[in-house]
Amino acid sequence: MERKWWKESIVYQIYPRSFKDTTGNGIGDLKGIIEKVDYLKELGVDIIWLNPVYKSPNDDNGYDISDYYSIMDEFGTMEDWEKLLNELHKRDMKLIMDLVVNHTSDEHIWFLESKKSKDNQYRDYYFWKKGKDGKEPNNWVSVFGGSAWQYDETTDEYYLHIFSKKQPDLNWENPKVRKDIYKMMKWWLDKGIDGFRMDVINFISKNTDFPSVSTNEKYGWGGEYFMNGPRVNEFFKEMNKEVLSNYNIMTVGECPGATPEHASSYANIDGSKLNMIFTFEHVSLDHGPYGKFDIKPLKLKDLKENINKWQIELYNKAWNSLYLMNHDQPRAVSRFGDDKKYRVESAKMLITFTMTLCGTPYIYQGEEIGMTNISFDSIEKYRDLETLNYYNEALNNGADKNKLMKAIHYMSRDNSRTPMQWDNTKNAGFSNADTTWINVNPNYTKINVKEALNDENSILNYYKKMIKIRKSNLTLIYGEHIPFMNDNENIFAYIKKYENQLYIVYLNFSKNKQSIILPENITKENLTLIISNYKNNDFFNLKPYEARVYKVSQN
Ligand code: GLC
Repeated sequence: MERKWWKESIVYQIYPRSFKDTTGNGIGDLKGIIEKVDYLKELGVDIIWLNPVYKSPNDDNGYDISDYYSIMDEFGTMEDWEKLLNELHKRDMKLIMDLVVNHTSDEHIWFLESKKSKDNQYRDYYFWKKGKDGKEPNNWVSVFGGSAWQYDETTDEYYLHIFSKKQPDLNWENPKVRKDIYKMMKWWLDKGIDGFRMDVINFISKNTDFPSVSTNEKYGWGGEYFMNGPRVNEFFKEMNKEVLSNYNIMTVGECPGATPEHASSYANIDGSKLNMIFTFEHVSLDHGPYGKFDIKPLKLKDLKENINKWQIELYNKAWNSLYLMNHDQPRAVSRFGDDKKYRVESAKMLITFTMTLCGTPYIYQGEEIGMTNISFDSIEKYRDLETLNYYNEALNNGADKNKLMKAIHYMSRDNSRTPMQWDNTKNAGFSNADTTWINVNPNYTKINVKEALNDENSILNYYKKMIKIRKSNLTLIYGEHIPFMNDNENIFAYIKKYENQLYIVYLNFSKNKQSIILPENITKENLTLIISNYKNNDFFNLKPYEARVYKVSQN
């Protein structure tokens, strides 16, 4: 397996709006991130990924970009951004930027031009279509609800928006669009950034016949016609040739609906496209037939099967990215662990899991102190447009309010977007404003960075230890993944094998004591404990959410 810096690095994701506010307007900013660079260095992470910081009307918190070449006013200036890059580089850390090029804002100059007339030179930068029988050109539903087409009076046509109507999809079929995007990418790379996280990048090639889907509902999911589309590999290759291959950078493509087969092509080790992708399968195991808010209980068996599949099928073919949460997902400890009695134990178990798989690990802000989901008591306190659209639509369709709120408490994207909890002062030390853009989780008085730094048994200190262990054991990074105890419904156990080295990982995903078995040909005497989230271990029994990593000595 070829060694690469981005395989051996750990990424820390920052959602700038919620990280640290230095101006007192209740919104996080770039100067706030600069203040915390030493904190991040000490944590042991190597790469910072920033969610979008470009100019944006913020319909979708920066994922609707109106100018790719400037910084969002609330976040600061280009000078602040340059300072941040410089501060990171000074400490041997890297910076990757979010690249949102499946769509722009409807306030981007390309779109403003495009909608002016059918013969405007930017008309074909987007997908414009005539209506059909007085309705939309097809029946695709948008990710955020309602039709994926918006009517525009000026030219009596509809434009495509897979996300909100303020996020029109760019037309990648048009070579001018691709050229302009590559130019913009080079501009940022020439400023010295270290790579891109590419937003829904497997959506860029659409079936341009735009066929309707069959459904009994008014609108239906058209994913098969715009995810992993016919020209997506060709576009990745072209982008790689024109831009990526000329720089020593890392790339990770966000790819909803991608299978290991897609990943083996998009993130092939031949280096001709992207370095790795974010898959969605393991964060969809608790989605019911009616989508993400139709929640079903998460079964460890399903998670094991899924992770094992990705670990095994990509091995020596493509590189995995490892994450349990991000700004679109619930808090990991609330979803995969226990955010009550065993919050500390389960958060430590989960990072042991992430740090012992093959791939590049991603930590999301606040994960390192075990921040939890939020349960706002009223919908007015929510900010995320997906959550709000879902609520309104479901309420209109007669759904029960309490049930809706319950689903939102578990699944809303705002769970991960409440402000970072730095200490136990006003607004968790995030901001000195009277009101913050979204409320702080009231549990900040107990769960915060200051507290965690002072407690040697904190989740944060365990993260630091686990990060060091991963970085000093190549087997944990590159090792082959060999699961055992496969039928066990509470324990995830696997061997890591690399060159002559063997490690064994046991993870108890339950609140109960569980007994373990050893893999064939390995005895207790062969094992040296490398790390555990409990001080005392009872060898054949795992305590609630106990995690252990053993090194196997070879006789
Ligand atoms: C991605 C982003 C998400 C955003 C969407 C549209 O999934 O992670 O936050 O809403 O793309 O850009």
